[in-house]
Amino acid sequence: MTDMNKTSQKDRVLIFDTTLRDGEQSPGATMTHVEKLEIAELLDDMGVDIIEAGFPIASEGDFKAVAEIAKRSKDSVICGLSRAKTGDIDRAWEAVKFANLPRIHTFIGTSPLHRDITELTQDAMCDVIHESVTHARNLCDNVQWSPMDATRTEDDYLCKVVEIAIKAGATTINIPDTVGYTAPAESADLIRMLLERVPGADEIIFATHCHNDLGMATANALAAVAGGARQIECTINGLGERAGNTALEEVVMALKVRNDIMPWTTRIDTTQIMKASRMVAQVSGFAVQFNKAIVGKNAFAHESGIHQDGMLKNAETFEIMRPEDIGLSETSLVMGKHSGRAALRSKLENLGFTIGDNQLKDVFVRFKELADRKKEIFDDDLVALMTGSSDPASDMLELVSLRVVCGTDGPQTAALTLRVGDAEKSVDITGDGPVDATFNAIKSLFPHSARLNLYQVHAVTEGTDAQATVSVRMEENGKIVTGQSADTDTVVASAKAYIEALNNLVTRREKTAPE
Ligand code: KIV
Ligand code: ZN
Repeated sequence: MTDMNKTSQKDRVLIFDTTLRDGEQSPGATMTHVEKLEIAELLDDMGVDIIEAGFPIASEGDFKAVAEIAKRSKDSVICGLSRAKTGDIDRAWEAVKFANLPRIHTFIGTSPLHRDITELTQDAMCDVIHESVTHARNLCDNVQWSPMDATRTEDDYLCKVVEIAIKAGATTINIPDTVGYTAPAESADLIRMLLERVPGADEIIFATHCHNDLGMATANALAAVAGGARQIECTINGLGERAGNTALEEVVMALKVRNDIMPWTTRIDTTQIMKASRMVAQVSGFAVQFNKAIVGKNAFAHESGIHQDGMLKNAETFEIMRPEDIGLSETSLVMGKHSGRAALRSKLENLGFTIGDNQLKDVFVRFKELADRKKEIFDDDLVALMTGSSDPASDMLELVSLRVVCGTDGPQTAALTLRVGDAEKSVDITGDGPVDATFNAIKSLFPHSARLNLYQVHAVTEGTDAQATVSVRMEENGKIVTGQSADTDTVVASAKAYIEALNNLVTRREKTAPE
């Protein structure tokens, strides 16, 4: 049993991960069914107390993912989100009931702005809260209730609705800073006020759910814990709506490293953090910024002479935690062209990628190609190789060949052959630079109305033979998809990333949002 009895474990903070729900809600971060199962398995293994697996009423796909995650769950509580509607709550229960430890999470916006939208008076909303929480509690012993936009709800009204939810049977009350508006001192005071003023508040657990619009999500979550909250809602890499949510790796490592002033513990196996970060970055298509706390590529890199000298003499001079604490092994020469399939699979597993036999075949071919072209293959090369490693045979579009002519005098030309369904098509076309010519060629062979709204290139390892990782984001009728690819040739990586995004647009990732 991982859910916590508050009075017996005052110093423990529960980690509630919502990467698969709030994280997946960020535009373009939609994940496939299999990807969601893999992430949930890792979260369970690394000691996440509660996994919010999705929003079952949102779509058939969400429902199936939550149900399957519930069936496969081990020690984590599996939670499904629902609005304050009977049908939503029933659907959430239908999905989570397969878990060893199921939880229903139901919410309603309680601030004046949200009451206007739902056209409910304060009293009418109180009735809805009473009915929805009672209904959820009749289905499940473990019920979480959230007053959405709590930080902009009047104090008196917030106390009143929290009391109603507790009386109706909520076992966890989550206090969301939905728009990332609050500041740390307020975040702590709000929880303190609720604990002081609401009858029955000491019988339940208060949770904090912060968004990062002003860059204060981690600070606000930790302040809420100082105020008495004992559950932090967070996501891997801080993925989430707009500027994202509190990052799991930040709160967990802050509590570990500064336990002297924040004397609360979590159950997280921190050595799995890097693996989870890489996995989420890969499946969401949201690369981690280089200077991101804890998991950024530069978080443990020391380049300046003074820093390097200090590090060599004593690592503690500039490092407050060790790379091993988050599961980061030193970047080393790992594989070469003589390495076999089993070694590749085991190395990829260490890096956080669980792959099936078919995918391994495809990745192995590309690994061998890379090993032929590149002298040294580093961990980062392998991570890059894994991007865009779906099964090409099942995709609508596949790059067959590409030859680009560049130069100072004259337009750049791309000669491209593309498999479109069962047919191979070729074209020779010009553009304003090699990437533009390549994209023009793809568009002429596969006409579409999707708009390219992001194109990003970065080198993942050093040297002129480094792999370039290209990310593209495209939009068509409000539907956003991403594509990522890596190659030692930037133009080839660009073509593959663009093609992957088009494949995603055509074949995968249909998602119906709730109204
Ligand atoms: O940010 C928010 O208010 C939410 C709720 C649904 C908990 O995500
Ligand atoms: Zn949220």
